[in-house]
Amino acid sequence: MATEQTVNRDGVGSPKDARDVLSVTDERTGETYELPITDGTIRASELRQIKVSDDDFGLMSYDPAFLNTASCRSAITWIDGDKGELWHRGIPIEQLCEHSTYLEVAYLLIYGELPTEDQLAQWVHDITIHTFVHENIKKFVEGFRYDAHPMGMLLASVGALSTFYPEAKHIMDPEERYLATIRLIAKMPTLAAFAYRHNRGLPYVYPDNDLRYPGNFLSMLFKMTELKYEPDPRLEKALDVLFILHADHEQNCSTNAVRAVGSSQVDPYSAVAAGVAALYGPLHGGANEAVLRMLARIGSTDKIPEFLEGVKRGDERLMGFGHRVYKNYDPRARIIKKHVDEVLEATGMNPALDIAVELEKRALDDDYFTSRKLYPNVDFYSGLIYQALQIPTDMFTVIFAIPRTAGWVSQWLEMVDDSEQKIARPRQIYTGGGPRDYVPMERR
Ligand code: CMC
Repeated sequence: MATEQTVNRDGVGSPKDARDVLSVTDERTGETYELPITDGTIRASELRQIKVSDDDFGLMSYDPAFLNTASCRSAITWIDGDKGELWHRGIPIEQLCEHSTYLEVAYLLIYGELPTEDQLAQWVHDITIHTFVHENIKKFVEGFRYDAHPMGMLLASVGALSTFYPEAKHIMDPEERYLATIRLIAKMPTLAAFAYRHNRGLPYVYPDNDLRYPGNFLSMLFKMTELKYEPDPRLEKALDVLFILHADHEQNCSTNAVRAVGSSQVDPYSAVAAGVAALYGPLHGGANEAVLRMLARIGSTDKIPEFLEGVKRGDERLMGFGHRVYKNYDPRARIIKKHVDEVLEATGMNPALDIAVELEKRALDDDYFTSRKLYPNVDFYSGLIYQALQIPTDMFTVIFAIPRTAGWVSQWLEMVDDSEQKIARPRQIYTGGGPRDYVPMERR
């Protein structure tokens, strides 16, 4: 008779009557230990009881890059990489993109529930009235070289916000937390747009609080001599969807940076600056730029077979394909793909789209990619939209940072309230020598 199985959210089955315990026998001593299993995990600190002698420190786990270590409990975002599912507070990303706005999703991430009409109106109002930055921030941005990378400028100016709001260091004060939350979400587009205008040598455009969040960002980027910038509703909608898609993605590199730095109880502006720094790296926030360079290099659809042969030989990577977690079509890529056509209808055709569509089709017909579970990820089509919006490639990661701020802040708030969290302090395996004596300079 088959054993009856219960299946938890990780899809791990265990016999119904089994105890949630892992028995471990240490062959060095012959001792057996029982380690409790909770939510499909054992606590690494339970291993410390496993010793060969009383003065032994106890067993540790070794997990470079956190490949198999849960560092927190979180109720914010759920990803099922095999099924290609992404939920925020339990709501599938597809539904949020269809029915919601970025600011409503930010509320959902932070408070755990969708807002009522009044709550949403108050939230949007509070964010809207905090979009301006202190004039000294403008001078601070002006101090950068004309060709400074906008991500470097964003990183510095977000960190600098902590000097304008020193009271934000009272992280246990709910009022201060709320203000910092609002200010970060509100001011990020302003800082991003100032960085862009600085690069172009254009005057900075102040926020227009009559416009919605994405429309105001487009205005701060592109307004010239017109008295009022009127965003194209199709572009505004597409940008809002991109913002929703990038709002949170559970424990990735930058979120982990925000949590780790925030665990020292520093103010949230400094913690979020750490997140921006982590996102700056090409392995995290920079892949969409690489997709555009790849499409430009391929040049035309007839060159695709030759390009794919090169990928299969290992000469290059198919950028925008593959993911550490998703082993299926990234749900965010599917949603973006639907919006590419709408954007191009507003901005005019982009020949790179034909290459991208044909490249995807051929790769998904090829055993090399399907057998390795390589499917388009969020970056495969997002760069095409940014390019159609006339946003330069240097700005792509900056545009990722704007909506991810809601995710970083919600994860920071969850961490601050988690009684199990302490200052992040990993262990190491020491591989150096010693002890040995200091050698004076003349004897070296
Ligand atoms: N093109 C060609 N082969 C690939 C690719 C690719 N894009 N990605 C993985 N592979 C192959 C890889 O060579 C390996 O083959 P083999 O088994 O023969 O050695 C196999 O697939 C497994 O790859 P891996 O490197 O072990 O996978 P990983 O989980 O370490 O890497 C990844 C994930 C995203 C870094 C990788 O797929 C990649 O470099 N993709 C291209 C860059 C990219 O699009 N990055 C954006 C990721 S989404 C960002 C986000 O979620 O925020």
